[in-house]
Amino acid sequence: LFAGASEFVKGVVAMSGLPAPDRLEVCFAGRSNVGKSSLINALTGTKALARASNTPGRTQEINFFTQGPDLYLVDLPGYGYANAPLKVVEKWQKLLKQYLSGRQTLRRAFVLIDARHGIKPVDDEIMRLLDTSAVTFQCVLTKADKVKAAERDKILTQVRAGLAKHPAAFPEILLTSAEKGDGIATLRSIIAGLE
Ligand code: GTP
Ligand code: MG
Repeated sequence: LFAGASEFVKGVVAMSGLPAPDRLEVCFAGRSNVGKSSLINALTGTKALARASNTPGRTQEINFFTQGPDLYLVDLPGYGYANAPLKVVEKWQKLLKQYLSGRQTLRRAFVLIDARHGIKPVDDEIMRLLDTSAVTFQCVLTKADKVKAAERDKILTQVRAGLAKHPAAFPEILLTSAEKGDGIATLRSIIAGLE
């Protein structure tokens, strides 16, 4: 599933814009700035396929990328940053809900959590949405290069307890660094193993 090149397909702002559901799909959700776009770049071995930036809320559309002929990687808009106008937030939430509950080819969601911060209330909300949408999800800790072992273990304990409340959650937690490459091959093989 992970053979071949990646290409940006399109950014989608409404359900009517979704590409035809003609292949498997995985999506990446997480708070703004958690590292979704960077992770997609690391997974696909590209530097700037998905735009990564320091400006929170940079990715405001649902962005579709191909990975070879049989897979879509989907970069979801980041949630939970301050200063977003309520109207914008509401629009995203609606689109996100529609996408998560209505996309038949969506095989798994990856919920990215900053390895320094653990699960926040907004993450819990998304996880609840995934539960009710019956989308199985797996938690990916990002920016592992930024935490020391002791702190990391504390966060892992918090995340493990947090996931236990969610029926759609996989128990396995992935520790990744888009910067250093940790966990990227593992994540790739998990995605490649989906059917
Ligand atoms: P939005 O599109 O705004 O929702 O953000 P995003 O989740 O796509 O985050 P993005 O990939 O743009 O990364 C945000 C910032 O974190 C950038 O400055 C990245 O360089 C940095 N970053 C991402 N992943 C890592 C990582 O593994 N390690 C370190 N040290 N920095 C990272
Ligand atoms: Mg992004």
